[in-house]
Amino acid sequence: MPQHVQGVIAPGRNEPVRVETIVIPDPGPGEAVVKIQACGVCHTDLHYKQGAINDEFPFLLGHEAAGIVESVGEGVTEVEPGDYVILNWRAVCGQCRACRRGRPWYCFATHNAKQKMTLLDGTELSPALGIGAFAEKTLVAAGQCTKVDPAVAPEVAGLLGCGVMAGIGAAINTGNVGRGDTVAVIGCGGVGDAAIVGSRLAGAAKIIAVDIDDRKLAKAKEMGATHTVNSRTSDAVESIRELTGGFGADVVIEAVGRPETYEQAFYARDLAGTVVLVGVPSPEMRLDLPLLDVFGRGGALKSSWYGDCLPSRDFPMLIDLHQQGRIDLAAFVTETVGLGDVEKAFARMHEGDVLRSVVVL
Ligand SMILES: NC(=O)c1ccc[n+]([C@@H]2O[C@H](COP(=O)([O-])OP(=O)(O)OC[C@H]3O[C@@H](n4cnc5c(N)ncnc54)[C@H](O)[C@@H]3O)[C@@H](O)[C@H]2O)c1
Ligand SMILES: [Zn+2]
Ligand SMILES: [Zn+2]
Repeated sequence: MPQHVQGVIAPGRNEPVRVETIVIPDPGPGEAVVKIQACGVCHTDLHYKQGAINDEFPFLLGHEAAGIVESVGEGVTEVEPGDYVILNWRAVCGQCRACRRGRPWYCFATHNAKQKMTLLDGTELSPALGIGAFAEKTLVAAGQCTKVDPAVAPEVAGLLGCGVMAGIGAAINTGNVGRGDTVAVIGCGGVGDAAIVGSRLAGAAKIIAVDIDDRKLAKAKEMGATHTVNSRTSDAVESIRELTGGFGADVVIEAVGRPETYEQAFYARDLAGTVVLVGVPSPEMRLDLPLLDVFGRGGALKSSWYGDCLPSRDFPMLIDLHQQGRIDLAAFVTETVGLGDVEKAFARMHEGDVLRSVVVL
């Protein structure tokens, strides 16, 4: 029997989000229904609401979540009802050319539930990143459920489902930060601060946090930044160079998603260094760089999809490190809020008041 639950939808471009009744079908083959316990508010949810990802309104928002598997469809073997899981938005297929070549973190055919969740009048919903977890329950592909130790609270564990994994992975997987490296992180929200945590974990010698908001820089320092630069009052590129012997950082992680910050990352990096773009740009954004500089400065210009993570490998590992006290995932949770507070949480994110607001159900 299809179930009726409450969920937060974005009805149209820049329209306020609202709580609506959502119809959740029984799980079909390869699918699972998950009872959501907590879901963080990520900047990508705001991008969806603004129409900056695509036009497939209405969206069922939320994609950074943990919960309990309620029921599974035919043929599901990886999880069973009662399992405590973090939802992931890149369920690896195992079949595509990337998977077959042993690079499943690049999987080119990640999958979601086949059936659609709808409004009461039958309008099909587009779940954000194939998840839609600002809801009491959601329908996903079983491969999107990654089992972890239930000892870690859902409002903390769920953060690994997107921003924190994306940031830590941008440093340790995509950027390949190693012992003794100098790192700069531009944009110190949830994702950027996670890149700082990842860089520290990897043994970076210097971690320079760059933001336009002093409150974010103070928090970045608590998270492990060794130096901070307010790029509203000082030049980001010059400051990073000064702090790195005049050369630039080995790895610069851009966690804003704008051409001007990408350009800063490009020039703030040492020769043969690496730029990691983890911020998500919107479709109209363009980049204009002298091709000679792209050639002459060498190194690697990479994007980081979901921190190039493998959920089944990385979520349990990071949960372990958290339990051992080697990283502090709880430090990302600024506040817990209710399902009706997502619009307010977007405003607070926009104002820079929070690292993560987490909807708790
Ligand atoms: N690649 C991925 O897989 C992935 C996953 C999750 C989120 N993201 C993206 O990462 C980005 C950050 O997400 P978030 O949740 O941390 O957002 P957030 O709003 O919490 O943080 C953004 C930070 O950037 C700072 N900022 C804004 N403009 C700046 C500028 N010009 N220079 C320096 N700092 C500036 C803000 O003050 C804020 O601290 C977004 O674009 C989001 O869509 C990407
Ligand atoms: Zn996200
Ligand atoms: Zn694949």
